[in-house]
Amino acid sequence: MTREFTSVGVIGLGTMGAGIVEVFARNGIDVVAVDADESGVAHGKEVLAGSTGRALRREKMTQAEHDALHARVRFTTDLADLAGCQLVVEAVPEHLDLKKQIFARLDEIVGPEAVLATNTSSLPVTEIAVATRDPKRVVGMHFFNPAPVLQFVEVIRTVITADDVFEDVKALAERLGKKPVVVGDKAGFIANALLFGYLNHAVSMYESKYATREDLDAAMRFGCGYPMGPLQLLDLIGLDTAYEILDTMYKQGRDRLHAPSPIIKQMVSAGLLGRKSGRGFYTYAEPGSPEVVPDAWTPSGTLPTGVALREVASVGVVGSGTMATGIIEVFARAGHPVTFVARSDEKVAAVLTALGVVFQGAVDVVAQNAPAFVASGLVLVLLLVLMRVVGAERSHLDDLAAKVHVDEFEAAADYPRVAKFGAHLLRRGAGGDVVILGVDIQQQVAHATTDQVGLVAGSLQTLDHADGVPTDLVALEWMLATAQHFGRAAWAWSTAQR
Ligand SMILES: NC(=O)c1ccc[n+]([C@@H]2O[C@H](COP(=O)([O-])OP(=O)(O)OC[C@H]3O[C@@H](n4cnc5c(N)ncnc54)[C@H](O)[C@@H]3O)[C@@H](O)[C@H]2O)c1
Repeated sequence: MTREFTSVGVIGLGTMGAGIVEVFARNGIDVVAVDADESGVAHGKEVLAGSTGRALRREKMTQAEHDALHARVRFTTDLADLAGCQLVVEAVPEHLDLKKQIFARLDEIVGPEAVLATNTSSLPVTEIAVATRDPKRVVGMHFFNPAPVLQFVEVIRTVITADDVFEDVKALAERLGKKPVVVGDKAGFIANALLFGYLNHAVSMYESKYATREDLDAAMRFGCGYPMGPLQLLDLIGLDTAYEILDTMYKQGRDRLHAPSPIIKQMVSAGLLGRKSGRGFYTYAEPGSPEVVPDAWTPSGTLPTGVALREVASVGVVGSGTMATGIIEVFARAGHPVTFVARSDEKVAAVLTALGVVFQGAVDVVAQNAPAFVASGLVLVLLLVLMRVVGAERSHLDDLAAKVHVDEFEAAADYPRVAKFGAHLLRRGAGGDVVILGVDIQQQVAHATTDQVGLVAGSLQTLDHADGVPTDLVALEWMLATAQHFGRAAWAWSTAQR
């Protein structure tokens, strides 16, 4: 028979537990909320009041709903108060011995029908289960942070979990508005097994000073569309918790990706736990606050002395692929006359068709043959197209060098040709005004369209190394500022360049 859970207990009211309490109470379930001491209880109360108060102010909840929710939660420091609960979810720190100890105690407290769940991210649920007299009733119920917001829940089924137990917990998760998946008892389950290698890699890039924290986070937010950057996410998770998760996964799988980057442990030892302690990779207004405040490492946002920004008068784009088309669109939308070069009539037509759809026929287009362009002994006949969006004028390849301030190139694989073309433009008299950019470094943005302009700075250094096309600080700063001007995240491949 399916259990109807009407009374649950939550143990540990930290980052996860406080949110889990809210999830149950919002869904009409009575909650006994336990922490080890009064300060833990006070934290749980504060988090719940803060979250429900915000919902009330934003009119997502009525006063009556708010009051009823709070009336359903009873806070305590005594585990014995869990006696009447049908389900207990444990969310204490990620230490196996502590969790086993708590589960053994629960055996003495709750009734024989009660289900016991752990919110562990990586510890073996089976080992926690066998610390009890009846391991059949133990499951993993892994909420995601922040629990009231994220819909995903992993229900971990061990080899001894009774069928009805995990089915009932899965049904409960659905009733809570979550999307549960059932997964076996392997460290990290699904999401963390995939996520933590990436987070750890980001920390090692930060640790080796490969990029700043802001640039690492911007790359993944604006380049890959993630809602948070990896270091921001680690601060939210808590570095102590993250360390334990990585360490457990590493010990179980011996995958080097999960060997915790040394700086994580150092930060934990120094009390830099992330948001919850007020400082982690970033500094926060106060412990528990999501508000990032400037610190000694916050970029000033001002240009280095002697760097002056250039005006963007016109824009040239070389290439006709997915990226080139998107980039043409970005600049054209911003009101700049755009000239683009493609290798055949068909490619020109394809770009114009794509843009015509975007601009719904508002673009007045004139195409004409361009003179031959010599590169590396090969004669490339390019077709030059003038696309008029905002008062643009007819143009030829001959004067492209004098007009064009930014050149985008289609293929990362084709850097030598691109670089030679860049050198040609420089020789043609545009001098320092030409900034050569490539796109799609190592296919990182292959799927991207117009949101990726900020990423093109990365290619400057690649070009520089590959073919000696000069890149200077002024050019880079100008490009970053230009990208920002267009509302894009500006990202530099190496901080050494900034
Ligand atoms: N932080 C995350 O993003 C996240 C996400 C999913 C799962 N988890 C898992 O949730 C669990 C809790 O992690 P957290 O980040 O909330 O930790 P946390 O350090 O923020 O909170 C732990 C809480 O447990 C309390 N506590 C410690 N010992 C206790 C005891 N003996 N009895 C009662 N309460 C006790 C502490 O006072 C604290 O309030 C861990 O297993 C973690 O792996 C964490």
